[in-house]
Amino acid sequence: MATRNKLSITLAAMALSTLFFASVATADEELRPLRKNQMTEEDQAPAMLEYQGKAPGAQQRITRNFAKQPPLIPHSIEGFRIDSQVNICLACHDRPSYKAAKAPKIGDSHYRDREGKELKHISMGRYNCNQCHVPQADAQPLVGNTFQAVKMK
Ligand code: HEC
Ligand code: HEC
Repeated sequence: MATRNKLSITLAAMALSTLFFASVATADEELRPLRKNQMTEEDQAPAMLEYQGKAPGAQQRITRNFAKQPPLIPHSIEGFRIDSQVNICLACHDRPSYKAAKAPKIGDSHYRDREGKELKHISMGRYNCNQCHVPQADAQPLVGNTFQAVKMK
């Protein structure tokens, strides 16, 4: 008797789990992520944008939309290395180099540590430039929004 009970409990559990997974599958089909298709389907994401950037200085800057916005990069960064050995951005934007490169100097905030203490060199928290600065590209928003730039003096 005990074995039969066990068996029916197992069967019931199996039936329940089938139901559960079936319902998950249906929910999955209804879910339409931003890429507009499921992982298992052929990728329908928009094609990668060919970056429109040109050499430094050859392109208009896009004005900032709010105070403290990391400015967009107004030039191509194709092949610009940032790793533990080299940070090519520093070669043009760091304090010792920006004048010769005729490039804007890295923000003073980048030469302070988290406690606000002045540093001789750029803070390591700012080393990975592309974490905050992105190149300009004509990328349409994936979802509509009504954002308006903050009026700045
Ligand atoms: C060969 C020199 C050179 C290199 C290397 C370089 N830049 Fe620039 N960058 C410039 C120049 C010159 C400008 C100014 C261009 C202009 O205003 O038209 C500029 C502008 C910028 C600006 C805009 C600043 C503002 O106030 O609007 C940002 C941000 C920037 N660069 C980030 C980067 C990052 C990040 C890297 C590395 C991935 C990098 N740059 C590598 C020369 C360089
Ligand atoms: C954690 C985010 C972050 C990282 C990482 C970062 N920046 Fe910035 N950057 C900002 C913000 C925010 C601003 C605008 C406000 C300011 O100047 O602090 C800015 C401003 C700038 C400016 C304009 C300065 C000015 O006076 O108008 C330049 C040039 C710049 N960054 C270059 C770089 C370079 C080159 C690197 C990498 C070595 C880098 N940034 C890393 C966030 C970042």
